[in-house]
This record gives sequence, C-alpha cells and structure tokens, in this order.
Amino acid sequence: MLRASRLFSVLVIVALVMSLVPMLALAQDPTETPEERDYTQQKTKIMTSAFCQAQPTGLKLEDITVGFSQMENNNPWRIGETESMKAEGEAQAGRYIATDAQTQTAKQVSDIEDMIAQGIDVLVVAPREYEGLTPALEAAKEAGVPVFLVDREAKGTPCEDFITFMGSNFIEEGERAAMWLVETMGDEGKVIELYGTIGSSPAMDRATGFRNIVDNYPGIEIVASQSGDFTRALGQQVMEQLLQANPDVDAVYAHNDEMALGAIQALKDAGKTPGEDVLVVSIDGTHDALQAIIDGDLGATVECNPRFGPLAMETIQKFLDGEPIPTKITVEDMFFDSSNAADFIEFAY
Ligand code: AHR
Repeated sequence: MLRASRLFSVLVIVALVMSLVPMLALAQDPTETPEERDYTQQKTKIMTSAFCQAQPTGLKLEDITVGFSQMENNNPWRIGETESMKAEGEAQAGRYIATDAQTQTAKQVSDIEDMIAQGIDVLVVAPREYEGLTPALEAAKEAGVPVFLVDREAKGTPCEDFITFMGSNFIEEGERAAMWLVETMGDEGKVIELYGTIGSSPAMDRATGFRNIVDNYPGIEIVASQSGDFTRALGQQVMEQLLQANPDVDAVYAHNDEMALGAIQALKDAGKTPGEDVLVVSIDGTHDALQAIIDGDLGATVECNPRFGPLAMETIQKFLDGEPIPTKITVEDMFFDSSNAADFIEFAY
C-alpha cells in the first residue's frame, strides 16, 4: 500500500479557491416519496463559494488507509453513522480503522494521535465538542494527514486545519422545528428546551435556529432550557425536574429524538398525555421517533441524516484526484410528521 500521507506532505498545496458561482444547489428535493429516496445516500447542497484544492495524487481510495474518529456510540444516530462509515470505508478504502471516544473529547484527541501513529493517510472526524480538538488537528497537519469533518463542526480554518465540513444545517433544523411548533401550537405558549451536549455545534446552532423563529412571537416563552446531553436517560431525568417547576408547560423542544423520547416518558409518568396536553418536537428522524409520531406522542421530527459513509468516501476520492472541494458540504434533510411517518418508518435507523 502506498503511504499517501508522505505524498501529501510533499505534494499537497491546499488552497482556498473562491468560485465565481456563489451558491450551487445539488439534488434538492424535500418532497420525495419513500420509493424515490435512496436510503444509502445523503443528498447535498453547496452553499459556499470557498473551495480547497490540492495537487492530484494519482491515488485511489483502495491505495490508502482511512481512519475515522467517532465521538461516542451510545444512541441510534451515532450507531447509524458508525455503521455507514464502516460499510463504505471497508468496501472502498485499502484499509479502514475506527475509534470510539466514548463521550470524552480528551480521548478523541488521543484516539486521533494513535491513528496518526498507526499510519493513516486520511482522517475523518465526528467531533464531540466544537472546542478541544486543536491538538489533534495540529498533529494531523504536522503528519501531512488531511482531515475531513463529518456531522459536527470543530474550531479551525478550512483548508488549513481541515479540508471541509460535511453535515446538516443545524440552524435550519432548529428553525424548522420552531416553525412546526408555531403552526401547531399557535403564537402563544410555554416551551421547555432540552439542550444537547454543551459545547457541541448542533446544540449551539439548534438553540439559535429555534430562537430565530420564536423570538418573533412575544407570546411564546422558553420557560426552561437544560442539557440532556443528547441521551434518552438524561432527557427523561431533566424533564422530570423541569416539569415540577413548570407543570403548565405547553410544548417541549428537544435537540434530538432520544431526549424527546425521554421527555415523553417523563410526561406520561407525570400523568400528562404527550401530543395532547404537551406538544413535543425534535430532530433526527430515528425509527423510535417515527414510531412515536405514529403513536401520537411526538408531533414532528426534523431529519438529520447520519449516513455519512458514501459522501465521505466520495469526497476523499475527489480530493485525491485534485478536484476543488467546497469548504462546507450541506446535507439536505427531510421532515417527518403524522403525514409521512408511517411511509418512511421501515427505512429509518
Ligand atoms: O451531531 C448530530 C447529533 O448528535 C444528533 O442529532 C444526535 O442524535 C447525535 O448524538
């Protein structure tokens, strides 16, 4: 196998190329039917005019080792992402290795350093927190290993600290959840927000997006906001506490489905009927969430597609070929509510 990283350190001139085409939308169709949708692929759109370009290496994915640093594997979304990366990495790369940081940013840094020492040529990272990965990104740069961020953003400059970020528009996700709530609840009501992992880009952006909409409605009040760390157990526990202080809450906005499902359990335990007494809206589109919509407990979920394997491998190959890579590749997501949950559940993760 060729040691591509050595080649990168010699050949790769990463450049920021500003395109004359400011926004290029690719394959955007939010109204697909289950039959029309290819569940193995994410759809993407390009909303940036900045690109990174390297010299062509003459290498194919099968010539190189790809390392994937996953932050944790404790919920269906993470498992879906890990499995998608593994399936495509093992099918397409010469060698594929992966690590699990088990919810700790410090472990994620040492995992990455270990993979660099093992001789990976390209690194794919799903960062846990926005801050904290700088030493790992610096180690990759020093070793000539190009970094591709998937799913969550990390602090750094595209083309210098990493090539690109591939992921959903988390601000838009928060906005779409809020729009559903305003349409369904009306312009007045008390809302509890179950916040994701503190310091993570989806939590920060989903909070911002939600406020972008509800701040236009003085009658809607976010009466409490607390982190459930994106987990079902903590979502339930936090909701139990917040319900005691806010028994008259009208709606719950959870930053992911797992916390929403925990909140639904807490509402039931408190004698409330989710979907009737208290509306619940969240983000992800997991199998359990779609079932909760069908059951009437969850109102809606904004899709956040975790199947990054095909997109990541395709982008790495384009980079090896010397094609310009957009510094941000935005995943195009769907929306699930009572009108379509039953149609899509058999394909959900
Ligand atoms: O980064 C994406 C978020 O991380 C998903 O919404 C969540 O379920 C996961 O843990």
